[in-house]
Amino acid sequence: MGSDFVGIRGAVRAGRYSRSTRLEVAIGGYCGKRIIDLGSGTGQFAAEFAYRGAEVTCIDVSATYLSMVRQRMNNMGVMAHLVTGYMDHVTRLTDGAFDAAFCHVSWYYCMNDLTFAKRIVAALRPGGVALIRANIDAFEVARSPIRSLSYWLNQHMFLKIGHPHPPRGRIAFAFRRLGATEISTNYDDPLVDVVLARKLPS
Ligand SMILES: C[S@@+](CC[C@H](N)C(=O)[O-])C[C@H]1O[C@@H](n2cnc3c(N)ncnc32)[C@H](O)[C@@H]1O
Repeated sequence: MGSDFVGIRGAVRAGRYSRSTRLEVAIGGYCGKRIIDLGSGTGQFAAEFAYRGAEVTCIDVSATYLSMVRQRMNNMGVMAHLVTGYMDHVTRLTDGAFDAAFCHVSWYYCMNDLTFAKRIVAALRPGGVALIRANIDAFEVARSPIRSLSYWLNQHMFLKIGHPHPPRGRIAFAFRRLGATEISTNYDDPLVDVVLARKLPS
């Protein structure tokens, strides 16, 4: 890592760079690849993908964030398809055309862990890759009784109310049970699940 990455802002940039590179390696380069950023926020990752040659789609419920994506992309001389909507509806955009789906700390906003994984896989072409990085339940330890109930319902009944973070291993489980993906995980961070799922050729 070069001297470019110094201090807190540098560490953030370094993290972004390494995640972006991880996806790039997994899909064999960004050039011409179709990538969807699920819950893109202001698009710092999406802009990086586009800058490196990908055709990027950002989906987010926030039109304000998407206008910030547009501004960011303009500033960098790149562009993206911007979709205001729920990431759970990703299959309304495609029947399997994306080379990659990227979901960075937005997973907990999905409506259901199992169906979200299923829809992500459906949106990928065979051989396509999903890279998920998500905070897990340990991220939120101080919980009110209502919040604890929300976590319990998701953990034991797969019912989501109020955006609980998933339990450790839930995301990998959701992909694995589909039987259509090859999965690798990284649980080095006690608060974060990183899952890379590759859709197998049918
Ligand atoms: C914690 S931010 C993460 C943003 C970005 N991925 C990043 O890493 O900086 C979560 C994002 O998900 C968006 N969001 C929340 N619920 C959503 C949903 N159901 N569908 C799509 N986006 C959603 C929010 O507007 C926000 O931009």
